Amino acid sequence: MELKTPDQLRLMRQAGLVVGRTLEALRVAARPGLTTAELDGLAREELARAGAGSSFLGYGGGGLPPYPAVTCISVNEEVVHGIPGERVLVEGDLVSVDFGATVQGWHGDAAVTFAVGETTAERARLSEVTRESMWQGIAAARIGGRVGDISNAIETHLRRQPASYGIVAEFTGHGIGSQMHQPPDVPNLGKRGRGPLIVQGLCLAIEPMVTLGTAQTATLEDEWTVVTRDSSVAAHWENTMTVTKDGIWVLTAQDGGEEMLNRLGVKFGPLSD
Ligand code: MF3
Ligand code: CO
Repeated sequence: MELKTPDQLRLMRQAGLVVGRTLEALRVAARPGLTTAELDGLAREELARAGAGSSFLGYGGGGLPPYPAVTCISVNEEVVHGIPGERVLVEGDLVSVDFGATVQGWHGDAAVTFAVGETTAERARLSEVTRESMWQGIAAARIGGRVGDISNAIETHLRRQPASYGIVAEFTGHGIGSQMHQPPDVPNLGKRGRGPLIVQGLCLAIEPMVTLGTAQTATLEDEWTVVTRDSSVAAHWENTMTVTKDGIWVLTAQDGGEEMLNRLGVKFGPLSD
């Protein structure tokens, strides 16, 4: 596992702020009639303005075709890794945007889900519980704890709901730093006290993927887009975080996670600039 120095964490924070700001800009810009390629174009403009690199563009290897965009935009039954294109957003769509940026080679990775205009209460609730489960996972991280504590917090929050949700298990969160994907994996289901030890300087991307149906997924012919097998609608939320000696620091949240962590009664631990 790659443990970051304070200076490296500050570069990851810079990348994280570009990511957080861009996702917010895309959420605000999304409206019926826009294509997902147009949203990707806005993200490219934000990267250029910030002088940051893309974590996603050209990503591949292991037989996968190089990823062709700077965002993944996954609409409705698409879970993750949707390739932006000519798909036109319509009122009620539930859209997940995943975006990664680099500053001097250090990565930030985050995702948000939002509705286009008005959507159903069921879809809105799906996004909300997925977001809550991400925060429960983040808040469960502590120095000396285990990655399974995070996984268990995500799973427990989702299982506690009155409605039943599919928790996607084929894709996980991950370590992140000088590469977007590093050890350890961070599953969205698991047992407390199990898995790798959480130590100071470890950075994790925590990213639950949740469906209104079963957890089974399939990958489309484009070799990237992951959809639900039962065509149920899915949500995906992600943040990059770290644990300092003072507490948790959410590198891709505009406020560093201060508000949510305070609300959850967990110590907020940013480094000074
Ligand atoms: N951001 C995704 C993740 O959270 C990965 C995107 S795949 C890529 O792991 F090809 F677009 F990079
Ligand atoms: Co990720």
